[in-house]
Amino acid sequence: MSETAKLILEGKEYEFPVIEGSEQEKAIDISKLRGQTGHITIDPGFKNTGSTTSAITYLDGEEGILRYRGYAIEDLAEKADFLAVAYLLIYGELPNQTEYDNFVSKITRHTMVNEDMRKIFDGFPVNAHPMGVMSSLVSAMSGFYPESYSKNDMDNIDVHIMRLMAKFPTLATWCYKKSQGHPINYPQNKLDYCSNFLHMMFALPVEEYEVNPVVSKALNSLLILHADHEQNCSTSTVRLVGSSQANLYSSISAGISALWGPLHGGANQAVIEMLEAIKEDGGGVQKYLDKAKDKNDPFRLMGFGHRVYKNFDPRARIIKKSADEVLEALGIDDPVLDIARGLEEAALNDEYFIQRKLYPNVDFYSGIIYRALGIPVNMFTVMFAIGRLPGWIAQWLELRESGQAIGRPRQIYTGETAREFVEMSKRK
Ligand code: SDX
Repeated sequence: MSETAKLILEGKEYEFPVIEGSEQEKAIDISKLRGQTGHITIDPGFKNTGSTTSAITYLDGEEGILRYRGYAIEDLAEKADFLAVAYLLIYGELPNQTEYDNFVSKITRHTMVNEDMRKIFDGFPVNAHPMGVMSSLVSAMSGFYPESYSKNDMDNIDVHIMRLMAKFPTLATWCYKKSQGHPINYPQNKLDYCSNFLHMMFALPVEEYEVNPVVSKALNSLLILHADHEQNCSTSTVRLVGSSQANLYSSISAGISALWGPLHGGANQAVIEMLEAIKEDGGGVQKYLDKAKDKNDPFRLMGFGHRVYKNFDPRARIIKKSADEVLEALGIDDPVLDIARGLEEAALNDEYFIQRKLYPNVDFYSGIIYRALGIPVNMFTVMFAIGRLPGWIAQWLELRESGQAIGRPRQIYTGETAREFVEMSKRK
């Protein structure tokens, strides 16, 4: 007999099934709650509410575990190639050599962008934030591929997956080149995914550009570490938009917008801005810890805390280690890294952070590496999006293939009760 949960409401007893996942996580299935009891649940921020079952990513917030399709993030970040991890997330298995070569070849052949997209792009002001540009351009892609919003859009969904994976980095580099007043670079089919991105970002028509293998390897690892994270804010957004059967491009565009927020992916930009402010302010961290603890001060320690991890974010551990290696390999001495380490040590020994189980998250150290790779601060969240793209796609596919009903949460109304209309002449 499987476990059930009993609920007593207004003297009546109700029983609801308990479901258990493959990692022994348990949930009370309340899909019949309103029909049986006339009540709904309410859980602002969904801190206790599951929106779906999923077979893609597993997190254990207490143990600091992160696995993509069962593979540990530590192994994937160290041993895998980003496109192989993208294949794993989207199709469920690590690709064999033939599958990998076909996947890479298809993506390579879609890296160019329709030249008419340049007309849309050229309309943006030079200082437009790249996340707003990327959300717009990805949504605009549906206009170039109208079959993506036909009623049988799932029949040829693979080509749209290839187009997104291939063109997203190309479009991202347009934002950077425009901000520098430099001509954009076309993709080079002879380069691997990360090297192609770096070439499009940093090559100039006046000299040869050699991709530094240390930089390309660090980027590959960073993209893997950001590739998926179960039902986070932006992924839940992609799923919710996808649940209305909106096309893949518009669903991903919505996810980019959600990721932009400083409480989510925008935190990696906010961390560096915070560390720079501390450096400008003399480098003392205690003042900022006190501000973060002061309920009357809106300041938060950016890059710290997490909805799920109540232990170290395993990605933060890997990125922190990689930061040392990358900066040493590139011969960079970044004082901001020392400030970050000092801030982390002080916070991890402070009762406020200990009591609330606030640890560094994926965003705390990532910006230090991006900066060492030459990525400008306002492109940090775009880098997060490049990494998260295969995860968004995988989650969107899982939702569409599940046939799940359109997402439509309920509410408890707390406004005015019924009242008579008041003519203008009688209004106060
Ligand atoms: C990402 O969900 C994901 O998986 C996201 C992500 C992914 O891969 O998709 O992991 C990526 O978004 C990482 C998080 C990046 N954001 C930041 O670094 C911004 C700073 N962190 C916080 O704003 C906060 O920790 C959140 C948003 C990450 C989580 O917020 P929660 O779960 O809603 O927790 P909360 O705000 O209720 O905080 C609990 C307590 C509160 O204090 P009390 O009301 O109990 O007194 O902890 C405090 C908060 O004030 N707190 C912080 C804090 N984070 C939480 N206090 C100071 N500094 C912080 N950073």
